[in-house]
Amino acid sequence: MKGIILAGGSGSRLHPVTLGVSKQLVPVYNKPMIYYPLSVLMLAGITEILLISTPHDLPAFKRLLGDGAELGLRLSYAEQAHPNGLAEAFIIGEEHVGDDTSALILGDNIFHGQGFSDVLRAATHDLKGCVLFGYEVSDPHRHGIGEVDADGNLVSIEEKPAHPKSNLALTGLYFYDNDVVEIAKGLTPSARGELEITDLNNVYLDRGRASCVDLGRGFAWLDTGTHKSLLDAGQYVQTMEARQGVQIACLEEIALRMGFIDADQCYALGERIGSSGYGEYVMDFARRARPLTTV
Ligand code: G1P
Repeated sequence: MKGIILAGGSGSRLHPVTLGVSKQLVPVYNKPMIYYPLSVLMLAGITEILLISTPHDLPAFKRLLGDGAELGLRLSYAEQAHPNGLAEAFIIGEEHVGDDTSALILGDNIFHGQGFSDVLRAATHDLKGCVLFGYEVSDPHRHGIGEVDADGNLVSIEEKPAHPKSNLALTGLYFYDNDVVEIAKGLTPSARGELEITDLNNVYLDRGRASCVDLGRGFAWLDTGTHKSLLDAGQYVQTMEARQGVQIACLEEIALRMGFIDADQCYALGERIGSSGYGEYVMDFARRARPLTTV
């Protein structure tokens, strides 16, 4: 399976913070925002990942993440020159996807919860059609919304409806079979001139090939679109990390856990980051993992 992270847009709701830096690079507590969606793809076992951003912001992402080799990843980069919509990711990423299945995640989406790796693994296993991830929210008019019947089948998908049929938001994580590129190419731009992800998902739904996994209560899907929600997300991460002493979206830890790198490589990455609490955490995790990986 191939991964795509879409990290475009002007982040206008976060101005002036995002006048000088891409939204997906601003910190969510102790890490750049992009770490969180990248960690989700890694937890799904995906190592070949295309990051799409604006021509202006792409160099900064390359500076931060490079070719990904240190994390056992293969990262590549592509430009989305104009904000033509989320579904354009599959036209830009056609070559990257090739004849494989793919996962798209939006660069400003944060997911966290017990058992999430199992959910991801189950969804990637024997993927047919598209798999969407639903999450109950209190402000459904701000999201793509899925309506589910009594048997749990998805029956409608609407983008930011004025009169939502349910509270089940469709989050910015999408798994697709290989038809996605052809479907994206066949979409007509919406009234706002964009290739909408909701239109793409509706093609799958019309073909009877869309399903939705409810992430359930107790799970965290966090928004980072406004100053307040960005601060809330940072405080959530800070609270969880301080309480349990474990990091959320620590890429080096996940790379080691997933077997993308070994404990020595992980330790060296932590050492290079040095004396920030993050670097020490990585070194400590690698130190404790060493006996496990050398037996
Ligand atoms: C996009 C999608 C929407 C989805 C949301 C998740 O909206 O169009 O369906 O619920 O991402 O983050 P945006 O937030 O880009 O307006």
